[in-house]
Amino acid sequence: QQQINAAPLNSEADIESFRLLYTVRKGLIAALFSQLKSVDPTDRPRIGNLLNQLKESAEARIAEAAESISHHEESSQPVIDLTLPGRVSFTGSEHPVQKVLGEMKRIFSAMGFAMATGPELELDSYNFDMLNFPPDHPARDMQDTFFIKRNGNEDDVLLRTHTSPVQVRVMLEEPPPIRVICPGKVYRNEAISSRSYCVFHQLEGLYIDKGVTFADLKATIYSFAHQMFGSDVKLRFRPSFFPFTEPSAEVDVTCYLCGGKGCKVCKKSGWLEIMGCGMVHPNVIQNCGIDPEVWSGYAFGMGVDRTVLLHYKINDIRLLFENDIRMLRQFTA
Ligand code: PHE
Repeated sequence: QQQINAAPLNSEADIESFRLLYTVRKGLIAALFSQLKSVDPTDRPRIGNLLNQLKESAEARIAEAAESISHHEESSQPVIDLTLPGRVSFTGSEHPVQKVLGEMKRIFSAMGFAMATGPELELDSYNFDMLNFPPDHPARDMQDTFFIKRNGNEDDVLLRTHTSPVQVRVMLEEPPPIRVICPGKVYRNEAISSRSYCVFHQLEGLYIDKGVTFADLKATIYSFAHQMFGSDVKLRFRPSFFPFTEPSAEVDVTCYLCGGKGCKVCKKSGWLEIMGCGMVHPNVIQNCGIDPEVWSGYAFGMGVDRTVLLHYKINDIRLLFENDIRMLRQFTA
């Protein structure tokens, strides 16, 4: 009588050594079968029967052990519950500022304006001097500037306070006629509130050609405003001052919310200021190496963020810059 080793078979290796010991052709069970000839013929059927049972039980143990190992492997995989609802994946969306900027760019490019860009880290001379700001002029203080490097000379570096230095860069590089828009971020060291932030967006426009007049500027702004804000919007040009334009104006549109009747958004005035503009000062044209006797033009610079707030009924400008996913998510589609 042979006893089969009862030690548990917990791995592929256990099973393999069990198999090599007992059930292969030269294993112990086969050896027992070969001794069957020497058994008394009357006992042979009974012994043969026992050997067959032994062989079957050994094979059954192998099968059982293999089964339980493969089961074990399966259950160590994460359980997949097919009845759970699928996970909804969130696709990124265009920022509301970019949506509005995109619409502005579309309108101006249909009018023949090309795109230009400039650096946010700008030379003091492009941000101020070349734009006809006299040294120590109070207008420099009007734009609360973040200085990066300030020695009081030509290579002072700052965060641009408006997109107007891109006008200078374009005029220095391209011969007229010039017709460009320059969208981008600008920086001012102002008190932060729901209405003003230390960074915001402007879209600059510049048109330089022969015989350009203020009437061309007005027509362009009217056309833009009607496409951007609707054909029933009214415009108001108020005289203003900028060192780099003469004459200068600020443009108001009738309030989005009340249509001019007066409400909280427009502080009861019925009007919202959207941009500064004017005829490019001859000094600026001259500074950029273009002859102001031959060429003239207009420029405008509009605030983008205010329009975004009104358009999407957002009540705090800071929301545009905090990248809070709960806010950004609302602009998918
Ligand atoms: N750069 C001016 C500002 O930031 C706006 C402006 C641009 C005015 C172009 C006139 C012409 O306030």
